[in-house]
Amino acid sequence: MLQLTDVHTYYGDSHILQGVTLEVPQGSVIALLGRNGMGKTTTIHSIIGFTPPVKGQIVFEGKNIVGFQPYQIAQLGIALVPQGRRIFPSLTVKENLTIGWQKKKGQLDNDLKHIYSLFPVLKKREKHSGKHLSGGEQQMLAIGRALMTHPKLILMDEPLEGLAPTIIQDIYKKIIELKSSGYSILLVEQNIHLALKIADYVYIMNKGKIAYHGDTKQEQIKEEIKKYLSI
Ligand SMILES: Nc1ncnc2c1ncn2[C@@H]1O[C@H](COP(=O)(O)OP(=O)(O)OP(=O)(O)O)[C@@H](O)[C@H]1O
Ligand SMILES: [Mg+2]
Repeated sequence: MLQLTDVHTYYGDSHILQGVTLEVPQGSVIALLGRNGMGKTTTIHSIIGFTPPVKGQIVFEGKNIVGFQPYQIAQLGIALVPQGRRIFPSLTVKENLTIGWQKKKGQLDNDLKHIYSLFPVLKKREKHSGKHLSGGEQQMLAIGRALMTHPKLILMDEPLEGLAPTIIQDIYKKIIELKSSGYSILLVEQNIHLALKIADYVYIMNKGKIAYHGDTKQEQIKEEIKKYLSI
């Protein structure tokens, strides 16, 4: 569904991604792991068009999307759940979900109903502003907002970051649910234990390169995690 081939991305003169090659097959969850500052978010931002690569290909459903604007990439069916959630704090839950959507009322209502059935707490908090939600609720809202676009592929950047353990379990279960409903997911996570439980396949990044990739069930993965991810 999504293939990155030899992707090179810069911030100014800093050569951050140095030849990233990875693949997200249809219907799978792919984990992208790595220590802080290794280039995980930059990979996600390269895909979504925030920091377009200078070299390399990003092919989504057969189309090279390098050079496309972020809104065009979203229209093709890729949604982002950004690191740090980034909901609008002064807007209500409903406004956060509906802002920017020029949909017919019936369609908008159906989409909202769908999100509220996945996350009933968002319905309860519909009129509350974003800043009054708990971390877990904000994360649900960030995921809900991504789903409003009817994506085929969801890019999730550390959705479990900074959440209380019980909430982590709730979000974890929701991601499993999304996987069962057929969404393809590229999951960036620092919670290695849960990421390996959710994902089918894993890529480990080190200094802007893919240092290891393999099936999550492979024994070798433990060694690679020790090598690249232990602090
Ligand atoms: N806007 C920016 N301008 C310049 N350099 C940046 C910018 N954003 C990130 N970097 C640098 O690019 C490198 C990769 O950062 P990136 O955010 O992709 O890492 P990450 O793997 O997502 O880390 P984390 O786990 O902390 O989120 C880091 O060295 C970082 O300092
Ligand atoms: Mg990051």
